[in-house]
Amino acid sequence: MTSTKTVIEMKNVSKYFGAVKALENVSLQLYSQEILGLVGDNAAGKSTLLKILSGVHLPNKGQIFVEGKDAEIRCPMDARRVGIETVYQDFMLAPNLDIVANIFLGRELTRWGRMEKLHKKQMEKKAAEILKDLNADLGPLSNLVMSLSGGQQQLVAIARALLYSPKVILMDEPTASLSVRAIEPFLELVKNLKAKGCSIIYVSHRLPDVLEISDRIVVLRAGQLVAEKMKDSTSLEEVVYFMMGIENQGKRKISQETIHG
Ligand SMILES: Nc1ncnc2c1ncn2[C@@H]1O[C@H](COP(=O)(O)OP(=O)(O)OP(=O)(O)O)[C@@H](O)[C@H]1O
Ligand SMILES: [Mg+2]
Repeated sequence: MTSTKTVIEMKNVSKYFGAVKALENVSLQLYSQEILGLVGDNAAGKSTLLKILSGVHLPNKGQIFVEGKDAEIRCPMDARRVGIETVYQDFMLAPNLDIVANIFLGRELTRWGRMEKLHKKQMEKKAAEILKDLNADLGPLSNLVMSLSGGQQQLVAIARALLYSPKVILMDEPTASLSVRAIEPFLELVKNLKAKGCSIIYVSHRLPDVLEISDRIVVLRAGQLVAEKMKDSTSLEEVVYFMMGIENQGKRKISQETIHG
């Protein structure tokens, strides 16, 4: 069961790109061991919200608290320091490096000798541990990432996010590059991450997936938070009405195509 301990709190956060109000006065909480589904139409502000939490963008207004403390997230390293990791749609991997190198990309373990050397054995051991924990069989860890399938690359990206046991994982369209076959196992993996103690913000256009895995769903529309619903007290149709801004206009029929994307 999801606890009510707040891990992240965003208070009145706004982000402008020139005249574009990408986010306007958004306040939301992410609770401990919760999967929060964040949905909205194109340009609603979803990626902007995740980028603010991951230190890619600075908000123009508002505050972010992590476990009650003002988090002052000004760059990606700040986000990592407070336990927030991100898995991007295109995985952000280096295809011509091997699996271990990708898991440790930018955070290689080093040891001091006459020269600073990469602590290869230790990195291999840690990478193998994380992948085993994810039930991920990717073959030899010396395999180049470019030789892996989309689903396998996704696992490398998740393993990288798990390297320092984050409190929070942000996922922006994580299934966009996956084959249909790979999606269901991926959703199971996300549920397992929650069971192991992570809190997750999950952004996707695939609404049935969002409804399947989320505890709570937040809808953004044109930069504003327009609905916040427990998964069990909403429906696909209602979420679509909020996304489209027709929740108060009588529930006109929405095609299955709109719902299933
Ligand atoms: N770096 C940027 N510079 C200028 N405008 C931006 C930038 N990033 C986002 N925007 C604008 O902010 C608004 C919100 O964009 P955002 O990418 O957050 O939407 P989104 O909900 O993630 O959409 P999508 O579902 O298409 O990914 C859009 O109008 C977009 O054009
Ligand atoms: Mg986006």
